[in-house]
Amino acid sequence: MKDKISALKKQKNALIMAHYYQRDEIQEVADFIGDSLALAQQAARTDADIIVMCGVHFMGETAKILCPDKKVIVPDMTAGCSLADSCEAEEFARFVADHPDHTVISYVNTSAAVKTHTDIVVTSGNALKIVSALPEDEKIIFGPDRNLGSYINAVTGREMVLWPGACHVHDRFSFDGIMELKRQHPGAKVLVHPECRRPLQLIADKVGSTAALLAFCREDDAREYIVVTESGILREMRLKCPEKVFIPAPPDSAADTGKESAEVGAGCSTGDEDCKGCNHCEYMKLNTLEKVYEALKEEQPEIIISEELAARARRPIERMLAMS
Ligand code: 13P
Ligand code: SF4
Repeated sequence: MKDKISALKKQKNALIMAHYYQRDEIQEVADFIGDSLALAQQAARTDADIIVMCGVHFMGETAKILCPDKKVIVPDMTAGCSLADSCEAEEFARFVADHPDHTVISYVNTSAAVKTHTDIVVTSGNALKIVSALPEDEKIIFGPDRNLGSYINAVTGREMVLWPGACHVHDRFSFDGIMELKRQHPGAKVLVHPECRRPLQLIADKVGSTAALLAFCREDDAREYIVVTESGILREMRLKCPEKVFIPAPPDSAADTGKESAEVGAGCSTGDEDCKGCNHCEYMKLNTLEKVYEALKEEQPEIIISEELAARARRPIERMLAMS
C-alpha cells in the first residue's frame, strides 16, 4: 500500500501532509508532518498540484482557502472536530454582534463560516504571540477553545471574552491520574497541550502546541515525560528522542466528563469494546492508509468552497500567517 501511494504521489505531483495525531502508518507515508500552524504554512507555499490533507476537515478547508487553485483532498470527509463543532457559525455571529467593539480572534479549529466572522485566526502554536502583539487595552473575543483562552488570559493578564467550547479529547484528561503518574515517575516532566483544562496547565513543566512540546523534549535534559495530549504525537517524540521515555496521560473517568462511559468510548478507533474513553481523537483516526490510497487514486473527496466564502475566510488566516 505504501509503495502504491508513493508511485501515485509522484505521478500526480501530490503532497501528502499529516498532523501529528494521525495514525503512525499515515505519518510514515507523509511528505510533511506538522502541527496546525505548520500545516497551514506548508500549504501556503507548496507547488504541488494536489494536497492530500491527512487530518480533520477544518485542516483541509484551511489548505483550500489558502490554495484555491489546487485540488485539496481529505481521505475521510467525515473527520470532524468536537471543538470546531462546539462553535456554530450563526451563534458565533450573534456572540460577535453582542460585543461590537471587540477584536475577534478564532482558533484555527473552526469552520470557514466561523472564520468569516473573525479578525485574526490563531493556532495553539502562535496564539500567545499574536494576542500579546495587540495593544494591551484592546478588547478581544476569543473562541472557541475556553481552555486555550484561559491560558492566554492567565499568562498575559488580559480579560478576553471566551467562547465556551472545548475539545473532547483534551478536556477529559484526568488530573488525579496524572498526579498518580507523577508519583510513580518522580523525575518525569509534564507536557500539556493548552486545550487541556487550567489545573493541568498549572502543573505542567511545559504548555504548548504539539510542535512546541516536541521541540521542548528535544532540547530538555529530563529522561521521562508525561504527555498530556492526543497519543498520536508519541510516534514523533519517540523517533526524535529515542533515548527518552514518553508516558501517555490517562483520560478522566466518565463521571468527571458528565458523560456515560459508553458515550465517552463510542466511536473509538482502537476497536476496544471495553474502552471507557481514551486519549485518541477518533476523528483523527478515521483516516487510514487505504483511504489515503483511494483518495489519491480517485482525487476525491475534494474540499470545495465557494470563492466568495474562501475570500472572506482567507483574510483572518493571512493575517495570522503575517503575524506568526
Ligand atoms: P496543534 O496542532 O495546534 O497543536 O493543535 C492540536 C489539535 O487539536 C489539532 O486538532
Ligand atoms: Fe478536534 Fe480531535 Fe484536535 Fe480535539 S484532538 S481539537 S477533537 S481534531
